[in-house]
Amino acid sequence: MAHETILVVDDEQLLRRTMARRLRTAGYDVLEAADGRQALELAADGVDLVVLDYRLPDLDGLSVLKELKQRAPDTLVILLTAYASIDAAVTAMKLGAYHFANKPLDLEALVAMVEQALETTRLRREVRQLRASQAQPYSLEQIVGSSPAMTSLKAMIQEIAASPASTVLLLGESGSGKDLVAKVLHYTSARASRPFVNITCSALPETLLESELFGYERGAFTDARQMKRGLLESADGGTVFLDEIGEMPLLLQAKLLRFLEEKTLRRLGGSSDLRVDVRIVAATNRALEEEVRAGRFREDLFYRLNVLPVHLPPLRAHIEDLPALVAHYVDIFNREFKKNVRGVSAAALRMLSEYSWPGNVRELRNAVERAMLLVRGDTLEADLFALNAVRERPAQFELPPEGVDLETVERMLVAQALERTGWNQTQAARLLGLNRDQIHYRIEKFKLAPEKSRQNNGRSWSGRTGTDRARGMV
Ligand SMILES: Nc1ncnc2c1ncn2[C@@H]1O[C@H](COP(=O)(O)OP(=O)(O)OP(=O)(O)O)[C@@H](O)[C@H]1O
Ligand SMILES: [Mg+2]
Repeated sequence: MAHETILVVDDEQLLRRTMARRLRTAGYDVLEAADGRQALELAADGVDLVVLDYRLPDLDGLSVLKELKQRAPDTLVILLTAYASIDAAVTAMKLGAYHFANKPLDLEALVAMVEQALETTRLRREVRQLRASQAQPYSLEQIVGSSPAMTSLKAMIQEIAASPASTVLLLGESGSGKDLVAKVLHYTSARASRPFVNITCSALPETLLESELFGYERGAFTDARQMKRGLLESADGGTVFLDEIGEMPLLLQAKLLRFLEEKTLRRLGGSSDLRVDVRIVAATNRALEEEVRAGRFREDLFYRLNVLPVHLPPLRAHIEDLPALVAHYVDIFNREFKKNVRGVSAAALRMLSEYSWPGNVRELRNAVERAMLLVRGDTLEADLFALNAVRERPAQFELPPEGVDLETVERMLVAQALERTGWNQTQAARLLGLNRDQIHYRIEKFKLAPEKSRQNNGRSWSGRTGTDRARGMV
């Protein structure tokens, strides 16, 4: 860690030297100034903390303090004063002094004070960085695309985020960005500092989903030993994302409707209503009208949710955004895989643009990820995508000939994956759907080594070229 810099300002040379020496022993870089002007000059390069005498020969301590704070508001200042006057103390605090130390000085107390002040700033800086890094992924700019469809989608998101309107229904095919939009809606709204709670309605059995959402009182059922707040309640002031709302059981649909209309809820087994302010963002990739017709979704709830429907277009409906999306993911995977790929070739771009993308942006992301794993040079050529895009089928390696036993097949697949990823075990494991331990186990079991796999790899049964082999694996 870089040393923190402390500036000690005092015209009494002996005292200044003593403080400086003690602070250096404590591990800080220490600068010294004998008057206000010198102090401001030295501080101009940026210091973390200033120990400042209140009485200086040229300027008074308070005006130096004021000047320091104006130039660098984050600078900590500990003011040394011989005459503890309440007025001066109050003024100094208002000007942003961190603390006071009275003269005659207790050196050890000063060191403790300095350490504590710097620790506070460190923490504050960390919190700020953390906040910035958390808030950043969910800004409007994270939604890539400048086609008319995406432009009007973004305008709509911006408008909804800024308005107090409480319920939103996100409609769109799988992979079209409903999760992303829900988060952007929350994190760009006035609710951003309150919780964002994500509930997948299909993931839990009915009774669990109910108690998760509404909570329960102690004794509401056999296992309810303690009161538990539901997610709706704990998200108060924030957003609740109800994903796959089309799968919500009918009974719960009725309870949700009541909540949406009355903005109050009752814990299971409870007897009083609690007022809760959350924005419900519901999402589905099903045609809810059809669910209504089939009797699986309450019509009244559908109309209640459908007040503010937001349609996310499938990728094929805004295919002009594909180049920007590809560039976005090339960027991301360059960072993740530490590669330096510049982009896709013209032929690849044409091919990708002609594909129908049933899995939408998620499928594109996966396709680019796989191409980025396989690529050797700095351009993604069409063959790296060929099978991803044209044949719609899950990951597959080339098939071994008839009559080969399973062990051999497994060994060949592991060897192929390792060879294709330049022996990057993490990447190879990912291609095979294994975790690192599992691939490690197989490398040991089959005694695979880089040279060995080169002599004894997929070529022994296929004899294909490198490109073909890459293509065989999707
Ligand atoms: N316009 C976009 N710009 C950038 N990334 C996008 C865009 N649309 C979708 N994505 C990304 O695509 C992936 C899939 O999107 P998301 O998970 O939001 O889809 P979904 O509509 O919730 O799908 P599902 O119905 O399967 O839950 C995510 O990684 C998301 O960040
Ligand atoms: Mg989703």
